[in-house]
Amino acid sequence: MRKKIVAANWKMNLNLTEGGNLVSDICKSLPILAENMQVLIAPPYINITSVVSQLSGVSNVFVAAQNCHQEASGAYTGEVAASMLSAAGVTYVIIGHSERRQYFAESNAMLAQKTDQALSNNLKVVFCCGEPLEVRDANNQNAYVAQQIEESIFHLTAEQMNSVVVAYEPIWAIGTGRTANTAQAQDMHSHIRAVLSAKFGAEVADSTSILYGGSCKPSNAAELFACQDVDGGLIGGASLKAEEFLGIIYAMTK
Ligand code: 13P
Repeated sequence: MRKKIVAANWKMNLNLTEGGNLVSDICKSLPILAENMQVLIAPPYINITSVVSQLSGVSNVFVAAQNCHQEASGAYTGEVAASMLSAAGVTYVIIGHSERRQYFAESNAMLAQKTDQALSNNLKVVFCCGEPLEVRDANNQNAYVAQQIEESIFHLTAEQMNSVVVAYEPIWAIGTGRTANTAQAQDMHSHIRAVLSAKFGAEVADSTSILYGGSCKPSNAAELFACQDVDGGLIGGASLKAEEFLGIIYAMTK
């Protein structure tokens, strides 16, 4: 059975104290998570070691990084290597978020390298894809997302795909309050699963978790998560408040 996952992407929000308070508030009211359910928290790099220690001993809750560098080590001032994340107790790394693609010029080829770095350092990957509004308006979203997947993760083996989660985040829904409706989400998620199936086989495709991201909140999470191919969510704004994030976690556990 594939995993259900609710992941918090804090982006560039919350200092050490604020992040620590949020994690402890979440832990206080966390529902029991079934074996196939996970919660991920992706704080800024500087909070990572403290969140790792806060979560030690908390079942099924893992720390994710928001990025890693595509090289193993070296003269890349300001950057963090996948091996360092792994050594710090990080379990997942988000790769290919649209904000990284847009503001830091991360190409599909670079994201393939980052994926390799992550996997070779025993990190699991949350690989993000999703189209901008003009592509959706032209009804080209399926080809656009397939190309992102092909160029960044099609070189992996079926076995490596066991360590990859896909997150579909339509750019027009991120931080806009405009969520994909359930039909749009389900259509794209089933398309992504078909793309994975054609390359890696039905077994890999069926066991890959595909998360939805983009203005997901407690009031819409349940209906999105009820879609057959939606296996959870990648949450931005609503992950910054314990009550809202917990509401989304509860929606997963229903
Ligand atoms: P919002 O939930 O704020 O729309 O952000 C989604 C996102 O980008 C998560 O990675």
